Amino acid sequence: MNIADLRKSYEKAELSESASHPDPMKQFDQWLQEAISSEVPEPNAMTLATVGSDLRPSTRVVLIKGLDERGIVWYTNYHSRKGQELAGNPFAALQFHWVELERVVRIEGVVEKVSDEESDAYFHSRPLDSRIGAWASPQSEVIEGRSVLVANAAKYGAQFLLRPPRPPHWGGYRLKPEQWQFWQGRKSRLHDRLRYTAQAEGGWLRERLAP
Ligand SMILES: Cc1cc2nc3c(=O)[nH]c(=O)nc-3n(C[C@H](O)[C@H](O)[C@H](O)COP(=O)(O)O)c2cc1C
Repeated sequence: MNIADLRKSYEKAELSESASHPDPMKQFDQWLQEAISSEVPEPNAMTLATVGSDLRPSTRVVLIKGLDERGIVWYTNYHSRKGQELAGNPFAALQFHWVELERVVRIEGVVEKVSDEESDAYFHSRPLDSRIGAWASPQSEVIEGRSVLVANAAKYGAQFLLRPPRPPHWGGYRLKPEQWQFWQGRKSRLHDRLRYTAQAEGGWLRERLAP
């Protein structure tokens, strides 16, 4: 198969100004719930883009773990590449692609760490092996081999037994959205795109973009 010949017509739904919610967080919540109830694989997976001090962007997939009017939350290792890049430059972008629903959501904004209390609460809700894993993995560092992880997991498992505390270098980030884009695939490449931009006086400007 020639990859240049791979194409698909998008015809499942539409997104109109009248049917979309004036509050983009509510529109997003509706689409996320529809992705979950449609049983698409990993509906909560999103691509996170950050920019390093060399001004080069990088991306990786993380899982959304919370959302409210303050923004969108995920958890990670603060010493990881993404953690270091966010420490130097808090502007970031998120993207969800729900393939089966022919939908994309793009979110741009400013990132800050969540409170220690929020990180503690989420950390302690995780399964034990994930909590030990947070200690065992020096995320984004070069390691000699897989045996390093296995040895670290055994070491921290023996040290903390059933009660590992949250590592100080592990916790949540929250992206406060300043701009959203909702993309719904349509026939003949005439897709629907609605952009929401935060306004200085509060509220959101909703505009249609050409696909
Ligand atoms: C579906 C999926 C979900 C993931 N969720 C997370 C997550 O929530 N937090 C995290 O730190 N890494 C997560 N990862 C791993 C990241 O994609 C990435 O490998 C890791 O965070 C290191 O990224 P960095 O070196 O750019 O900091 C996930 C990977 C996949 C494929």
